[in-house]
Amino acid sequence: RKKVTIQHLHALRASRTPITMLTAYDFPTGRACETHGIDITLVGDSLAQVCLGYDCTTRLTLDEMLHHIRAVARGSHAPLLVADMPFGTYLASPEDAVRNAVRIVREGGADAVKLEGGLELVDTVRRLTSVGIPVMAHVGLLPQRHVALSGYRLQGRDADSALGVLKSALALEEAGAFAMVLEAIPHALGTYITQRLRHAATIGIGAGSGTDGQVLVWDDLMGTWHGHQAKFVRRFADVKSEVEKGIRAYSEAVRERSFPAGAESYEMPKAQWERFQQ
Ligand code: KIV
Ligand code: NA
Repeated sequence: RKKVTIQHLHALRASRTPITMLTAYDFPTGRACETHGIDITLVGDSLAQVCLGYDCTTRLTLDEMLHHIRAVARGSHAPLLVADMPFGTYLASPEDAVRNAVRIVREGGADAVKLEGGLELVDTVRRLTSVGIPVMAHVGLLPQRHVALSGYRLQGRDADSALGVLKSALALEEAGAFAMVLEAIPHALGTYITQRLRHAATIGIGAGSGTDGQVLVWDDLMGTWHGHQAKFVRRFADVKSEVEKGIRAYSEAVRERSFPAGAESYEMPKAQWERFQQ
């Protein structure tokens, strides 16, 4: 596969060809994005919950993130590789953000970084892009701020809050973001922001069908587990049931000694066996 570039993503947007983005957290999931034609592989900080068992993303450290980015990067080559900057690694100052983004690119092997926030991040996005680190912004619902937002809730539902999301999107594009995630905002607002931006590609999750692309969390798409499901999730596969079937069949076969069968076992030449027994 040919490497997906930012220019290619802008061409997809210009030709109104939807962009596919999917999260990956390790070598096999990165490899699957590579093999099955995903445009952008995202090492999301949803890693915290779906792979590491934390209850929210703010617990994730940069070192934990780097460990997973490196694994994904070994499997995903052609898709543009974007990684979330963990909570607290880009907030103190633009310099701090540059230092940590450099680690994500150099040690992790990511092509670009993603950060959550609005107008307060404009200087940081400008600094990062000015030193050649491509930035994907993330507006609307910001999971890293779930406590301040009183939960994982729809954003931009009233006119004032919608205007706030629009202003952030426009300012972040102006600051140099090549794309942005729009999370949990009304369909009409997602479409409107997409039309108002001049070149930055919008990737929606719970932002309706009018964005330039869509993103989902691997485990939500695959149905790895069937816990709480946000309104915007569609389960395209049922991996949980497959896992259950596999484990049940395996345990049963071990317990009734039908596994391993003869063909799944190794033989010793008869003469050697006899010599061994003397
Ligand atoms: O962390 C993540 O998986 C994300 C996507 C859902 C956009 O930020
Ligand atoms: Na994220």
